[in-house]
Amino acid sequence: MPNLARRITDTSPKSYGMVAKAAGMDHTNRDIIHLELGKPHHTTPQHIVEATVSALRNGEVHYSDLPGLPEFRAAISNKLTSYNGIDAGADEVIVTNGLTQASFAAFMALIDHGDEVILLEPYYPQHFGKIEMAGGRPVMVALDPNKDYAIESAAIEKAITPRTKAIVLVNPCNPTGRVYSREELAGLAELAQRHDLFVIADEVYDQIVFDGAMHVSIASLPGMKDRTVSMYAFTKSFAMDGWRLGYVTAGPDLLAAIGKVVATEVTHVNTFIQYGGIAALNGPGEILSDMVIDDQKKRDLVVARLNQMPGVTCALPKGTIYAFPDISGTGLKSQDAADRLLKEADVVVESGAFYGPAGESHLRVCFGSESFERLELAMNRMQAFFNSL
Ligand SMILES: Cc1ncc(COP(=O)(O)O)c(C=O)c1O
Repeated sequence: MPNLARRITDTSPKSYGMVAKAAGMDHTNRDIIHLELGKPHHTTPQHIVEATVSALRNGEVHYSDLPGLPEFRAAISNKLTSYNGIDAGADEVIVTNGLTQASFAAFMALIDHGDEVILLEPYYPQHFGKIEMAGGRPVMVALDPNKDYAIESAAIEKAITPRTKAIVLVNPCNPTGRVYSREELAGLAELAQRHDLFVIADEVYDQIVFDGAMHVSIASLPGMKDRTVSMYAFTKSFAMDGWRLGYVTAGPDLLAAIGKVVATEVTHVNTFIQYGGIAALNGPGEILSDMVIDDQKKRDLVVARLNQMPGVTCALPKGTIYAFPDISGTGLKSQDAADRLLKEADVVVESGAFYGPAGESHLRVCFGSESFERLELAMNRMQAFFNSL
């Protein structure tokens, strides 16, 4: 065994949950329906593809500015101001390889050995490993399923110690589908200010909200801009998961530190890919809203069907592409249910426990990754499985 770096040996092995368990199944003769991975079913809109191909044809194949193309950062600045209510200029933005790189750079820039970072549970597992790799210690605060996984600052405050450096917020929330209210966020913001903490805000689903729900960016609240790292991506809203394109804004010193990590790691994001991002932001807004309307219809179908299954109840998610049904009435543990659904019903969903103990007795069902027909088939299979228990 080579003498590996502590940042590797001290990082928990990454679990890929049901994604790993279902890998390779598609090469068997079974017809597996994948509702485990948040991979958009839509394809990237054509005008984005065309702009990228044109950029390549026009010779945009060389290095760009390290933080990203000025024209792209100007378009991002417009979006942050108009949609997120964050008054960030083009020079306050860094383009990244998806949200994944933005959050990695944020943790590397902020977290020292022994620093504690609060994760609200159910949490997004990727953040856990990144905190560890940066030398930090993830500290879990369980949100209460009986209170619709609401953010309660009193519970969070109990977990704060002199070593606490930051709180991670995923809003809208993967896996619960919660879109946090202004009041919940104001409570969190007050806590961050009183204890002098940073908020690392993963807002990858900011534009996937339903029923007219309003997404509120915590950085837009008074006094929060400089103590928040706000991270976004084209991944989900523009169906650009394979493109690896995202961006981050933060207070000046922190953003400079994040820029140092990104530039050290990759220099910058692929130049021609950034032209696709410009086309996405400057293109017709209906394309984006049509995709959200489609996701909302799929949500309605899946949630209605889940609520007809014995022992299953499902709240209506106000954002993201996930339903998070409570299966406690079936008597099954969430991992057993997920394993059996794969084995007996050829449907892959993620277990709630994958997102920490507060997710137990739930499943995460992605409704954004398949067609209506396939979703109906998956729901028929799940219904038959739960009927048979
Ligand atoms: C909460 C959350 N953050 C980050 C990501 C990863 O985003 P990206 O593909 O842009 O790196 C995902 C993808 O599922 C996610 O759900």
